[in-house]
Amino acid sequence: TSNAMWGGRFAAGPDAIMEAINASIGFDKRLAAQDIEASRAHAAMLARRGILTDTDAELIREGLLTVLSEIDSGEFRFSTALEDIHMNVESRLRELIGEAAGRLHTARSRNDQVATDFRLWVRGQCDAAIEGIEALMRALLAQAEDGAETVMPGFTHLQVAQPVTWGHHMLAYVEMLARDRSRFEDARARMNESPLGAAALAGTSFPIDRHFTAQALGFDRPMANSLDAVSDRDFALDFLSAASLTATHLSRLAEELVIWSTAQFRFVTLSDRFSTGSSIMPQKKNPDAAELIRAKVARVNGALVALLTVMKGLPLAYSKDMQEDKEQVFDAADSLMLALAAMTGMVGDMRPNVDRLREAAASGFSTATDLADWLVRALGLPFRDAHHVTGALVKRAEDRGVDLPELSLEEMRAVHDGITADVYEVLGVENSVASRASYGGTAPTQVRAQIARWRETFPA
Ligand code: ARG
Repeated sequence: TSNAMWGGRFAAGPDAIMEAINASIGFDKRLAAQDIEASRAHAAMLARRGILTDTDAELIREGLLTVLSEIDSGEFRFSTALEDIHMNVESRLRELIGEAAGRLHTARSRNDQVATDFRLWVRGQCDAAIEGIEALMRALLAQAEDGAETVMPGFTHLQVAQPVTWGHHMLAYVEMLARDRSRFEDARARMNESPLGAAALAGTSFPIDRHFTAQALGFDRPMANSLDAVSDRDFALDFLSAASLTATHLSRLAEELVIWSTAQFRFVTLSDRFSTGSSIMPQKKNPDAAELIRAKVARVNGALVALLTVMKGLPLAYSKDMQEDKEQVFDAADSLMLALAAMTGMVGDMRPNVDRLREAAASGFSTATDLADWLVRALGLPFRDAHHVTGALVKRAEDRGVDLPELSLEEMRAVHDGITADVYEVLGVENSVASRASYGGTAPTQVRAQIARWRETFPA
């Protein structure tokens, strides 16, 4: 038998394989609440414009609420033969209220319907992502506050570079996440226009009020071009690209936690709540959550590339290709939200090993730059010469298996006879970090100033 919704010109029903490739209900049931919300706005508008009678509009309104409660309670029976969420809802509505249900689809198409539902869903996910990012920012800020003075090694090339503070390192991620948050805010603002009323592609001959439905659904305005409204999925791509960057940042932090929690580094202790054991090696405490966060970015990036690839080269207006947008976005959104929650939990629980961090900060000739700067300041050497002299001192210390502060003054003066005992002051890691007080630098004074700035947004 042919399809109840569109089968008028069909003599036979679809092949089972046709049904399998065509149906989206398996995943787009996640749009049920948005679909019903948009239908309610549409019906209310049709009644206001005299396109529906008030009686029919009321029947539709009540019927849709019943459908929603059936879906929420899990008693709704989804049908693959009805393809997607839109036809599943409408078909149940017809069972509930009869003929009036058939009037709901006046001046509307599934093309503007799905574009509207999906925009509403993605808009909600932007809000959720912003909330999740803010929770993580708060956790990092608390770490920064506790460790504003905690000295640790800073790396470039993963080789010891210069001492920094734990607070400074935590705040670096707060800044990245703040940009991620603003990307979701931008995406949300840009996508907040209503496609509803674009109908199939060309608009409609009915005297609808698109401003009314836009407002009812919390959109800023109706989209200005009906072809564009049903054709583009750039709003979903904006979401995915913001999600990709956020997941990339999470993955870098996750990698640092994996390294830092090793027996070789021992920079940080992760809580038992966010670690797992091994079934064979009794001593193991593995940072699985961090590893999975490190990996989740793959799904998000995959979704971005997949949807970009679906959209490239598609002629206007709607093509069924676009049904492939949803699973990618759902999976990316779920992955991102889980990664954000896990990272927030891990960061909240982790403990920096202060003594070990200090010890590591003082090794690897981490204050060599301070020594070179001292030669410039105290002896008036050009920086390039100071760099060379310091290099020779590092070589000497390395040959002897000691660090810079352990070289005697005689040994130093053998390399450059202008060096005086004052030099030892700059070789200490506390002095080193305190001296880097340029704006945005690692000095505790600067870190405290940045924490105070962030506390205006996120009070303790
Ligand atoms: N399930 C479809 C989708 O997700 C809904 C729109 C279908 N429109 C159509 N003309 N077949 O894209």
